[in-house]
Amino acid sequence: MEFLNILKYPDPKLRVKASPIEISDIKNNVSLIKSLVYTMYKADGIGLAATQAGINKRIIVLDLARKKDKEISFSLGEDNIITANKDLIIAVNPEIIFKEGKTTYEEGCLSIPNFNADVDRFFEIKVRAYDISGNEFIMEAKDLLSIAFQHEIDHLDGILFIDKVSPLKRSLYNASLKKKKKLEHAAS
Ligand code: NI
Repeated sequence: MEFLNILKYPDPKLRVKASPIEISDIKNNVSLIKSLVYTMYKADGIGLAATQAGINKRIIVLDLARKKDKEISFSLGEDNIITANKDLIIAVNPEIIFKEGKTTYEEGCLSIPNFNADVDRFFEIKVRAYDISGNEFIMEAKDLLSIAFQHEIDHLDGILFIDKVSPLKRSLYNASLKKKKKLEHAAS
């Protein structure tokens, strides 16, 4: 397992639309998936998309259980991932097949440090995806899980939550990045 470098906004690689994985090829991506999970836990995130590591494959991982002592060691069995992390979700080629209701939540993102803002999302969704063994599953998600799924699937399409916040918030953050860059430039 490798700690993957998480790209930071405004890196253009975050804007690349990721490609689906052939079902027969999922098994060849197991070590990548493990590294994504490992990186998500290490970075203390609740979700990570392969796009955030500069990998253009439609894979997301999620774990909403923010435990203090996360068990980040896990092994892989014959047909599935053996893990102590029962809340871990691995979704390959995830697709939203149903959406309903509205909710607003203050989001953050490992690719956009020091920025949080309200985003409107669907309250309830159904996601169709493949697990690490290549089995199709459909998962119903509400509330925070629904929000996390939508946020991560957006990453696979090159969409960031900062695109969905108020223009004022976005321009303030962009200005702060410019200022930071200037200061770094001046110091070097
Ligand atoms: Ni994110």
